[in-house]
Amino acid sequence: MTISAGDKIPSVDLATMTDNGPNGVSTDEIFSGKKVVIFGVPGAFTPTCSAKHLPGFVEHAAAIKAKGVDTIACISVNDAFVMGAWGKDQKVGDKVTMLADGSGTFAAATGLELDLMDKGLGKRCQRFSMIVDDGVVKSIKVDEGTFEKTSAEQMLSDLA
Ligand code: BEZ
Repeated sequence: MTISAGDKIPSVDLATMTDNGPNGVSTDEIFSGKKVVIFGVPGAFTPTCSAKHLPGFVEHAAAIKAKGVDTIACISVNDAFVMGAWGKDQKVGDKVTMLADGSGTFAAATGLELDLMDKGLGKRCQRFSMIVDDGVVKSIKVDEGTFEKTSAEQMLSDLA
């Protein structure tokens, strides 16, 4: 079942890339005591995600954070090396935390898995956005195909 408003974010281990290599981080560390906007994408460096989805959150990061958001995070079923390289390529700086769900445990635990086996991409994550307050989902949107519901612009208006 897909995670929905009112549910707690499951406790799973993710990773970020640092100057010293991959660094493990738990969802409890990311979400506890914070207001977090998290969006998920099917893959780093893929056309829609790279040209539109992530750049929108980089562009609007200050406006989103001005609405009381502590952390903006992007998650994908990719390893920390890829997520780190994608973040550098997209010049995210400290605007967006790039979370690697390398084994797809977050995608599976939230019911947000996306089967792209036929495209040679394996099990990935659906394109989604969530507002999470102290580890509890306040709202979730899932896009199929396009990214209208989960864009940064939509998130800004949802936070208003
Ligand atoms: C994309 O453009 O977001 C995309 C393309 C192929 C596979 C997954 C995602």
